[in-house]
Amino acid sequence: MKAILITGASGGIGKAIALKLASRKQNLVLVARNEAKLKELAEQLTKHHRISVEYIAADLSTTAASQQVFDETQKRQLQIVTLINNAGIGSGGEFAELSLQSELGMLQLNISSLVALTHLFLQEMKARKGGTIINVASMASFLPIPYMTTYSASKVFVRHFTQALTQECKPYNVHVMLLCPGLTKTNFNSAAGIDGKVGQRLNAEYNSSTPLQTPEQVADEMLNALDKKKHYIVSGKMNRMASRLSALFPNAFVAKSFARSYRKNSQ
Ligand SMILES: NC(=O)c1ccc[n+]([C@@H]2O[C@H](COP(=O)([O-])OP(=O)(O)OC[C@H]3O[C@@H](n4cnc5c(N)ncnc54)[C@H](OP(=O)(O)O)[C@@H]3O)[C@@H](O)[C@H]2O)c1
Repeated sequence: MKAILITGASGGIGKAIALKLASRKQNLVLVARNEAKLKELAEQLTKHHRISVEYIAADLSTTAASQQVFDETQKRQLQIVTLINNAGIGSGGEFAELSLQSELGMLQLNISSLVALTHLFLQEMKARKGGTIINVASMASFLPIPYMTTYSASKVFVRHFTQALTQECKPYNVHVMLLCPGLTKTNFNSAAGIDGKVGQRLNAEYNSSTPLQTPEQVADEMLNALDKKKHYIVSGKMNRMASRLSALFPNAFVAKSFARSYRKNSQ
C-alpha cells in the first residue's frame, strides 16, 4: 500500500500536516514516541476520512530507531511515496551548562535520524524513479543563535543537506523540499524546556517583529508549496522577509547582537 510517512506526527506541525493530508485522502504512517497519541490520531483519521492510517512508536533520538522504522514499513508492505522528516526538538540556555547527553540526543534526532531515514527510503524512490522527501528545518537555520547554539547549528545542517540533496535527486525524479517555519504555536518551547525565562530572552528580539503562526498555517503553506513543486518554503510573510534580510548581515554581527539581547534580558 502507498502511504506518506510523517515523523513527529503526534503533535504540533507534524499533526497539522497529517490532518491536512488525511483530508486529501492520503494514506498515512505516523511516527513519534507517544504511542497513545498516535493510536488516537490514527483511529480518528481512519474513521473520518476512510483512509488507512498506521503508526509506529519510535524514539528517533536513539541510533537504532530509523532502521527499525524502515524495517517496520517493509514488514507491513508499505510503499513510502512521501517522507516528511518533521520530528525535531530544541534546546536553549548557555551551552556549557546544558546536559551533553540531551544535546547529543537532539543532534541524533534533528540530524542523524533525518539523514538515516532519508537514505533508507531514498533507495526505493530512486529505483522507482519517483517520490518526495520533505525536511523541516527552521528560521534558526539562517542565523547563528547564541544560547540556542546547538539547535540552530543542527538546522543549518538540515537546510544545507536538503538543498544539496534536492539537486542530486533531480535526475531520478525524486522531489526534495525544505520547509523553514518560524515561531509557531506548538509544544516546541515546552518540550525544549525553554517556555520560561530562557524562551523569553531568546525570542525577545525576534518576537517583537514577527507574529506566531499556527501549525495549521505552516501545514497549509507547506502543502501549497508542494502543489507548486517548489523546493523551498519559508512559512509566513514576515519570516520570508527576515530570512532574506538575514543574508545581508555577517553571521558574526548577528550572533553578537543576539548574545547582547539575551544577556540584557537576563538582567
Ligand atoms: N514550533 C516552532 O516555533 C518551530 C519553529 C521552527 C522550526 N520548528 C521545527 O518544526 C518541527 C516540529 O516541531 P513542533 O513545533 O511541531 O514541535 P512539537 O509540538 O514539540 O512536536 C514535535 C513532534 O516531534 C515528536 N518527537 C519529539 N522527540 C521525538 C523523538 N525523540 N522521537 C520521535 N519523535 C519525537 C513529538 O512527539 P512525541 O513527543 O510523541 O515523540 C511531536 O510529535 C521540528 O523539527 C522543529 O525544529 C518548530
